[in-house]
Amino acid sequence: MIHRSIQNALQVAVAAELPDADTSRVLVRPCDPKFGDYQSNALMALAKQRRMNPRELAGAVVARLDVSEWCSKVEIAGPGFLNFHLEPEAVSGVLKEAASSDQLFFEPAIPSRTIVIDFSSPNVAKPMHVGHIRSTILGDSLARILRLLGHRVVTDNHIGDWGTQFGMLLLGWKTILDEEALEADPIAEMERIYKAINSDESLRDAARAELLKLQSGDSENLSLWQQMIDLSQQQFDMVYGRLGVGFDYTLGESFYNDELAGVVEDLRKNKIAVESEGAMIVEFPDDSPLKGQPAIVRKSDGAANYTTTDLATLQHRQREWLPDEILYVTDGRQQLHFQQLFAIHRRWRPEVSASLEHVWFGSILGPDRKPFKTRSGEVVKLAALLDEAEERAFTVVTEKNPDLDGAARREIARIVGLGALKYADLSNNRQSDYIFDWDRMLALQGNTAPYLQYAYTRIRSIFRKAGMDEVSAGEISLSTPEEFALAKHLLNFGLALEQVAAEYRPNYLCTYLYELAGHYARFYEACPVLQSGDAQTSRLTLCDLAARVLKEGLGVLGIEVTDKM
Ligand code: ARG
Repeated sequence: MIHRSIQNALQVAVAAELPDADTSRVLVRPCDPKFGDYQSNALMALAKQRRMNPRELAGAVVARLDVSEWCSKVEIAGPGFLNFHLEPEAVSGVLKEAASSDQLFFEPAIPSRTIVIDFSSPNVAKPMHVGHIRSTILGDSLARILRLLGHRVVTDNHIGDWGTQFGMLLLGWKTILDEEALEADPIAEMERIYKAINSDESLRDAARAELLKLQSGDSENLSLWQQMIDLSQQQFDMVYGRLGVGFDYTLGESFYNDELAGVVEDLRKNKIAVESEGAMIVEFPDDSPLKGQPAIVRKSDGAANYTTTDLATLQHRQREWLPDEILYVTDGRQQLHFQQLFAIHRRWRPEVSASLEHVWFGSILGPDRKPFKTRSGEVVKLAALLDEAEERAFTVVTEKNPDLDGAARREIARIVGLGALKYADLSNNRQSDYIFDWDRMLALQGNTAPYLQYAYTRIRSIFRKAGMDEVSAGEISLSTPEEFALAKHLLNFGLALEQVAAEYRPNYLCTYLYELAGHYARFYEACPVLQSGDAQTSRLTLCDLAARVLKEGLGVLGIEVTDKM
């Protein structure tokens, strides 16, 4: 990567000039083309710490800097920025190499880390709703991106298959279950019996009794419980299949039941948990945001809870996979839970160095800026949402391509509809709420999946017209500003991936791809490709590289492409 070479050269020059400087903070970033291709602002901070004149320091560093292999010039600008201007020859050299390699403008991360990703994690006997969509889509895309960069990723679906809801479900199953309804739509029927029992105060005790029987290993209740899990899992798998999402492990909460008592006992022995009004709690007197907000690890009725289970889960993951990092992809409303969990874990297992990250996200809102609901005010179910995405995309595709046969239009609509839905989610900063808007996400213009998928099909159609599938590598000449700009943007694919990996934000990759499509459109507008004589092979190679980056970039967002649209 040219970017990395420039950054390394700058770090060497800084180290020579300031032997005590921490050069790992000397970074080079892509910048506004007004100023150059890459920029570094590191010298200003270094000069400030040392009470030096930043422009003088910049001059001294530049005198030691040799980037002539990649840059036509390096400028010192303003109060001490360094602006790097790439040399077309160097850029075309990298493109030529990429054209004949599988690795597109990125390098595997060194060192490779082991990263456990806990995502999706729906609850048994409840429909997966739009709240789970962000976790599923975001977690899957992070897994794909981190894997592409060469990390070892372990995905684990921590489904909610244990807890007080099973008391009501069991009671409902035994007293009011409608077999036919269960057959037709198992989740809806389980949801119905749950709600019916839950809303009737007089059934509380009976439901508790069923729960206790389950917890003490009653074989009838255990087998009904298992049936509920299996039915739910089938529904989850249907949604995952449609979304193209897979997991290495599905270890639900119940998997840890036998460990819970030991965890609480260990916390007590180590004086991390103390008794309070019959419950066991952990307090955080020295932790300012958590002070005054104790975590319960055993309720006064003796039952363990979400936190206890998560501690046991952490212990298991640590033993089993020795992770460098564990990511938890959930709604932002669970922030307190994860802060407490991580704080307890630091005290309980201070020797464990894995970094624990709560990768949280905001809400999906309706047009009224309130949490997204159906027209009748219910929670939107994920399966219905996927159907609607495909249906609406079918209308769009049919308008564009009335002559294509029905099955082909259905398949394109599936790719476009699901792509649009995923991209609408991923292209937003995960921590902000966003308004769910079908028309916007399906638009063929703007920062949408259909726009990028369409850009891809336009490139493929050039190859169809040329009567070839790919282009044999040759020299690449970047003689027009549009060709050069497109080529330089291609180089930054790896940087976009790394940025996602550093902050767990796929929206950086979306922005990159959107800009790529823009560069491509300007190139296409300005530079004829077919019948361009000597330039044809070079331009076809640029087209091909742009298509490959689009496809791979969308691919790691979990989005497919199609040759026609
Ligand atoms: N089942 C939980 C929910 O639907 C999410 C679990 C997230 N993962 C975890 N290890 N706590 O809210």
